[in-house]
Amino acid sequence: MGERDTGMLVVRGGTVVDAGGSRRADVVVDRAGGTVMAVGLGIDTPTGSTVLEAGGCLVSPGLVDLHAHLRQPGMEEAETIDSGSRAAALGGYTAVVTMPNTDPPIDDAAVARDVLKLGEQALCRVVVAGAITVGRAGERLAPMGELAALGVRLFTDDGTGVQDAGVMRRALEYARGLGVTLAQHCEDQSLAGGGHMHEGACSSRLGVPGVPAAAEEVMVARDIALVRMTGARMHFLHLSTAGSLRLVAAARAEGLAVTAEVTPHHLELTDDELVGFDPLYKVSPPLRPAGDVDALRRACAAGVVDAVATDHAPHPPEAKDGPLDQAPPGMLGLQTAWPVALGALGEVGMAPPQVLALMSWQPARIAGLHTGGGGDQGGPVVAGAAANLCVLDPAARWTVDPGALASRSRNTPWAGRTLVGAVRHTVHRGEPVVVDGEAQR
Ligand code: DOR
Repeated sequence: MGERDTGMLVVRGGTVVDAGGSRRADVVVDRAGGTVMAVGLGIDTPTGSTVLEAGGCLVSPGLVDLHAHLRQPGMEEAETIDSGSRAAALGGYTAVVTMPNTDPPIDDAAVARDVLKLGEQALCRVVVAGAITVGRAGERLAPMGELAALGVRLFTDDGTGVQDAGVMRRALEYARGLGVTLAQHCEDQSLAGGGHMHEGACSSRLGVPGVPAAAEEVMVARDIALVRMTGARMHFLHLSTAGSLRLVAAARAEGLAVTAEVTPHHLELTDDELVGFDPLYKVSPPLRPAGDVDALRRACAAGVVDAVATDHAPHPPEAKDGPLDQAPPGMLGLQTAWPVALGALGEVGMAPPQVLALMSWQPARIAGLHTGGGGDQGGPVVAGAAANLCVLDPAARWTVDPGALASRSRNTPWAGRTLVGAVRHTVHRGEPVVVDGEAQR
């Protein structure tokens, strides 16, 4: 009381986890400098330091989301950079990649610059993914060089895949020259068009047109062939089938530069959720049967999957409350990703630090945000490193109340469900932006 604010922050009593392993340690942060000053036990800290209690918690490099739809510009009724980044910080994220399927799309430098500017005020780092093609129309390449000059490292037409193999080949050739990564939404429209859920026993019973697993797998196979041909890097977004992961595993065994992500919802929910025709469970790619869910979990444990990414896809109630065939696909993810992934991957024996690898340091590397690549995300938690941290309680239980989420939208599939694992604190550039589960501004 009345003591001078020393500008220090102490994260006290937790277990520090990063790519180097786990150890009991306090973490002392220089708030003004935004860096970690010391990591260890019994460190003398100036009186007046701000203390974040971390007893029973994991102190990790902040989570990094490769795939969030923050909807700005143009769809602010669903989400904004401000509301989405607040949801991210509350979910333990210190960086999110925001997707370019906005209105206008992020397919030129002026739009990208505006979004990056909005991100400067956000509660976490906001990184832009640029579109691969102009208007995401799949025909002419976007000015990838101009976007790369602004620091854009990931390019995607997400929401749809690039249908034309020749266009994708040229995009990969450009990407290789620029040293950037293409991220593909793998879905062949000639197979998927008109489908509202996974094509299988459940869709037949319900009489709902489906999206077959092959719609995803043919594009994964095609793009692996194009990576082989061009020598470029490719990241596969939200893979959802056992067959896709077999293709990725084989490509990796061959030494091709491909990486893959899965979402928390595809790790936990099956197409059976659609029995009530509830559009909340409509998502692209669609929820798949239990055999695929199991294969996704095992592929995470086997190291075939590199990242768990949210595909946080807010939609306003007036859009999502319509009939199944008219509702847009997508569900919220940022505030629930860590506990959902922890629960699903715990089923195949993955411990919390292994789940954090998929949600922090591995995605940081894919996005080019990792420390070794000149970035400030993904740790390690050592003296001198950027202080982007989250403090996670793996045992805390909480029940999801859609009205209490930071997102402008409410389309969470986890409403009323009790999750195990909670975000206690988030530190962004040395600032405690979430303390005891509350956003600080
Ligand atoms: O479910 C989805 N929703 N999948 C996507 O690929 C796009 C996203 C959206 O933008 O709503």
